[in-house]
Amino acid sequence: MKDVLTGKGVDRVDGRLKVTGAAPYVAEIPVAGVAHAVIVTSAVGPGVIAEIETKRAQRAAGVLAVLTHLNSPKLPGAAMKANPFDRLLQVLQDDRVLYADQPVAVVVAETLEEAQHAASLIKVRIEPSEPRVILREHLADAYKPPGGPLGEPDSQRGDIEAGLAMASVRIEESYTTPTEHHNPLEMHATTSVWHGDQSVTLYDSTQGIFGVRKKVASVFEIPIENVRVISPYVGGGFGCKGTPWSHVILSAMASRVAKRPVKLMLTRPQMFAFTGNRPDTIQTVALGADASGKLLAIKHDVISYTSSFDDFLEPAGMTAPMLYACPNTSVTHRLVRLDVPTPTFTRAPGKATGTFALESALDELAYVLAIDPLELRLLNYAERDPAKDLPWSSKALRECYQQGAERFGWSERPMQVRARREGNHWIGWGMATATYPAEQGTANAIARLRKDGQLLVQAGSQDIGTGTYTIMTQLAADALALPMERVRFELGDTDLPETPVSGGSMTAATVGSAVKLATLALKEQLIATAIADAGSPLYGLPVEQVSAEQGVLISQDGALSDRYADVVARSGAVELSATAASKQKPERTQYSLHSFGAQFVEVKVDEATGFVQVTRCVGAFAAGKILNAKTAKSQFQGGIIWGIGMALHEESIRDARSGRCVTRDLADYHVPAHADIPNIEILTVHEDDPYVNEIGAKGIGEVGITGVTAAIANAVFHATGKRIRDLPITLDKLL
Ligand code: MOS
Repeated sequence: MKDVLTGKGVDRVDGRLKVTGAAPYVAEIPVAGVAHAVIVTSAVGPGVIAEIETKRAQRAAGVLAVLTHLNSPKLPGAAMKANPFDRLLQVLQDDRVLYADQPVAVVVAETLEEAQHAASLIKVRIEPSEPRVILREHLADAYKPPGGPLGEPDSQRGDIEAGLAMASVRIEESYTTPTEHHNPLEMHATTSVWHGDQSVTLYDSTQGIFGVRKKVASVFEIPIENVRVISPYVGGGFGCKGTPWSHVILSAMASRVAKRPVKLMLTRPQMFAFTGNRPDTIQTVALGADASGKLLAIKHDVISYTSSFDDFLEPAGMTAPMLYACPNTSVTHRLVRLDVPTPTFTRAPGKATGTFALESALDELAYVLAIDPLELRLLNYAERDPAKDLPWSSKALRECYQQGAERFGWSERPMQVRARREGNHWIGWGMATATYPAEQGTANAIARLRKDGQLLVQAGSQDIGTGTYTIMTQLAADALALPMERVRFELGDTDLPETPVSGGSMTAATVGSAVKLATLALKEQLIATAIADAGSPLYGLPVEQVSAEQGVLISQDGALSDRYADVVARSGAVELSATAASKQKPERTQYSLHSFGAQFVEVKVDEATGFVQVTRCVGAFAAGKILNAKTAKSQFQGGIIWGIGMALHEESIRDARSGRCVTRDLADYHVPAHADIPNIEILTVHEDDPYVNEIGAKGIGEVGITGVTAAIANAVFHATGKRIRDLPITLDKLL
């Protein structure tokens, strides 16, 4: 397969649909006879529902059903997880309120307005108990969580105490990050349509249609093949759509009871309620180095919170043992149970939070040693993965440092703080390392060549706004040597071949490999069909003497040819098709596989107000093969923008008396707007990685956010001489 299209910055195949509003998001898909559901949430928690008054709501105009724990169908399966990544849900099964803003009733009505009105008439009296809300107040109850899907909570290498004792230079500091919410622009939404009461179709905004299918089947105890999940376009996920939450089940439950298709879209405030968040972290990092700057010890201890009823670990310490060459490392993670909803994966779980602490600490160490921060990182460059004791499958981080530094002009940076002033502003430069593992799952795909010479490739999967439709089309087009216009890629339907969740930066590598393998298998079949066909000009030629070029099979000498369309037409079949599954390459076990990058930022800090503006960013990334230069640039920029939000703006604040988030919309919870975003330059360093997977791509969904917060905090220190170890870096902390 020749890369003609793969790698090129071709436009999104769904770009026109997106900008004209013609790409349907699930809540926009018309469903005949649809009714509307609204969720009522508890104002306080934890507690017990003492009384729930629904009479007025039931009598209100247009109301079809009012569900509470008193009358909703019992679903014993709801108390269990469908897989290890799954979350426990609150779907009106009993009178317990585990946290404020938990669903306690659902109203179904003919129109959305009628459902909203009726919901407002429901009176809930909760006998509350004192909530545990603030992490810092309950540190004494911290526990070691069980090893979960994200890894073991503790790890040790060498002798950390000896390493620290041996060090001639040491630092030890605490860093904190707040609760953050994902805030995709498209709210969670589910429309459920039952066909009888044993079979259901859901239109759901999700990062994982097959995960939703499995959950719905297990909760309603119906065969998995009786559940179909459709999700053609998703307006952002960032982790909160990675597993199904309570509203998915409530939509299906309401539809089954009301015997009507039911649409349920969360409100923006409900996006701060029961669909997960990034938990606070309190991280202590101790570093020890010899006088030359060589690291002798890295100690990273993390405390975060989970809910009272489930374990979620924000794995912020997992990066510490692998990022730098260092003989002695120690990592611990502890959790505290709070009366809040269960937190969940949020863009670069653990890596975005962990690199804030680790990469800030490296900068602090650089100042103690009086070594340039970039120089310090090069001095401790890990030539192989010290945590796994394996070679890297590829690692062009050194090139990222060099090219990023050069583009940014890093060599002009004076080491001393408060060195540059323009008018009322202090100017500072900071940098940090970015990293994210190159994971891969198992995916299936089918490639179909039609009589008209058009290629259709299908895989369940999801496009969460990242460009999946586009890169899959490019990969398939190259595998069968066709132009983009003759290839269509379909996804977002559990009737299509099974694929994993679009999370962990895995979709390109996992689904892309399956798409490539299926299309290459189809090409083989096409050639085999032609040379076995007495009606083909290529009849009888050896396989190796036939190649495929832009819709035509050609003999080696160029004298004979046969169009793909003619081969299919003569075969008598409607289409030729081939399926394939992508699996991890066996070589993967012999290597450590990661994406890396280098983040450089400039900030401008107003001396009078403490206002921080990021004025310039350069991100240089090495992530194997880049499949589409244009969508990749958007992905990296998007990651950096998230990082700017995390560094300067984003913070969800809970009322300690009720546990509710008081930041409930995009006015209170600040995400970056255009005015907050400077020119962001993206450089990519190509890596030829034969080990990572079939297509050589490492995944770029998350590496872009990592390191950004530290680079900004480091730049703020360089500008002002003030080290902020507590995100977000708001102006009050600088005054
Ligand atoms: Mo992402 S937090 O792996 O959806």
